[in-house]
Amino acid sequence: MPTVHFRGEEIECREGATLRDVLLDADLTPHNGKSKVLNCHGFGNCGTCAVKVDGEVSDKGIREKGRLLVPPHHPNYDLRLACQTKVMGDVTVEKYPGMWGTQIAKEPLPPLTDDADADDTVDADDEPTAASADETPADAD
Ligand code: FES
Repeated sequence: MPTVHFRGEEIECREGATLRDVLLDADLTPHNGKSKVLNCHGFGNCGTCAVKVDGEVSDKGIREKGRLLVPPHHPNYDLRLACQTKVMGDVTVEKYPGMWGTQIAKEPLPPLTDDADADDTVDADDEPTAASADETPADAD
């Protein structure tokens, strides 16, 4: 049974489970800030469930590849859409700041603790601008 490591938590799930569902079923979320409510509910359209995944997961499908080409995402960010990613083995998942979780130049969100504010930091610069939409990973540094 695969184990998902996310923000200091360990969640066991069945092989082939959708990563977003695994996190939500464990009362966790791949969404930051307002995107916890304002998201496409797993259809692969909004891009707000983006996470960095290290481990055994399904390959990207055409829907996921397409969404990750559209700003504020960038194909070089090496992120996955949790709603399109199937857990195939043990995985470590990191969520970065920002409405879409695309602020990869920053540290990933810290482990959750009982006294920590579970509502993630969403800075004013989280909203995409024409300039930020043109950033490449090298620019984000
Ligand atoms: S929930 Fe919208 S793309 Fe994953």
